Amino acid sequence: MAKTKTTYFCQNCGHQAPKWLGRCPACGEWNTFVEEVIVKEEPVAGNWRPASATKTAAKPKAIHAIQYEAQERVVTPDTELNRVLGGGIVPGSLVLIGGEPGIGKSTLLLQIALGLKDMRVLYVTGEESEQQIKMRAERLPAPISECYIMAETSTQNIFRTVEHFEPEILIIDSIQTMHSSLVESGAGSVSQVRECTAEFMKYAKESGVPVFIVGHITKDGSLAGPKVLEHMVDTVLTFEGDRHTTYRILRTTKNRFGSTSELGIYEMQGTGLRQVTNPSEILISQRDEALSGISIGSMLEGNRPLLIEIQALVSVANYGTPQRSSTGFDAKRLQMLLAVLEKRGGFRLGQQDVFLNVAGGLKVEDPAIDLSVCAAIVSSYEDIAIPSSVAFAAEVGLGGEVRAVHRVDSRISEAEKLGFKQIFISKYNTKGLDLDAYKIKIRPVSKLDEVFQGVL
Ligand code: TYD
Ligand code: MG
Repeated sequence: MAKTKTTYFCQNCGHQAPKWLGRCPACGEWNTFVEEVIVKEEPVAGNWRPASATKTAAKPKAIHAIQYEAQERVVTPDTELNRVLGGGIVPGSLVLIGGEPGIGKSTLLLQIALGLKDMRVLYVTGEESEQQIKMRAERLPAPISECYIMAETSTQNIFRTVEHFEPEILIIDSIQTMHSSLVESGAGSVSQVRECTAEFMKYAKESGVPVFIVGHITKDGSLAGPKVLEHMVDTVLTFEGDRHTTYRILRTTKNRFGSTSELGIYEMQGTGLRQVTNPSEILISQRDEALSGISIGSMLEGNRPLLIEIQALVSVANYGTPQRSSTGFDAKRLQMLLAVLEKRGGFRLGQQDVFLNVAGGLKVEDPAIDLSVCAAIVSSYEDIAIPSSVAFAAEVGLGGEVRAVHRVDSRISEAEKLGFKQIFISKYNTKGLDLDAYKIKIRPVSKLDEVFQGVL
């Protein structure tokens, strides 16, 4: 065994330093350096040629000579997961599912494991006991697969089991609880997490068994984040959502076998996670009468167009400086839109409190909701309701001009599908669009005034 060697690792990004540092030079986080024992010698820089490699050097192959068969993916009953993975589980792939504790990673994986028809799934848990997993399984839809549970944290023991058990899918929950005897530092440290992941990667590639690993993300960096693993694995999925709302979004942040702009939406219920196939329906509240301050905007999440409800409340500021508060929408952008409305629209918003909220707890970055934000603010200011059959999809510029957005056709189709009667888009977006081909009435506009004249 090599002699004991220690080094300092940033627990957030895995940056390595010979001495303790207060602030990580790589990711900028404070107080994240921890001393770890590493026994495996790191390769010396420049010494890239291992001693054994010189004799049996592999020959490079011409690209046309490489045999390739399209691998058959395992299609799960979970259509959201299939989409996010790019069409199903690829044999021999290593998928990392990251997310904050309590968001539902274990529930999602257990549900997938139980739903895989005629497959031997091995679910290794390092966090909960077998009884606890059973308790959770009782809440979920009845199993149709052969799912086996094992409480274990040593990777060597897992590989010993796997060798004769031969699962068809392996699930590791979570990577931060696993430890390999090849590395001395404690479970959850950067060097352990890296070593264990490398071992699972090797196993996945050699056996062709897909491996899912769970990785917790903590904001304070007290656990080695999955960030340090992202470059090692084939696919990185992040499970996001607010723990206090029931919606969860499964997003691909890296995928060697598919697109990264896909996402899946789930709702956490008492009986596990339910796939949400038509998210716009739940994001728009069901109301009979139109209320002032509410407008419907179109946003793209990945490739999916969603219609969301924007709520604004504008009221006279009675206490000193007017307040501007926004939930789910960038506060700076809100300030900008207010300034545009004031200067270009002539609305006296300077002495008004403005509160903005994106319904459903979503965070929106797509500039295409600008127009609906402006419409909601003006609607609240004037106290005139926007008809609930109207949607908006355009960006607003500093000159009060209504700008084009990308993929306007899919946004229009989504609004049409949901029964909207009118949609406001930018005049510059109409090129190549057949306005008469849609049932929904398309209202191309180039200036903010035209929108307000048309709808308020
Ligand atoms: P869990 O899957 O353990 O989260 P993670 O593995 O990401 O830490 O648990 C998520 C939460 O979901 C937990 O607080 C309980 C809740 N939950 C439900 O609401 N419904 C259910 O059917 C299940 C199984 C869990
Ligand atoms: Mg868990």
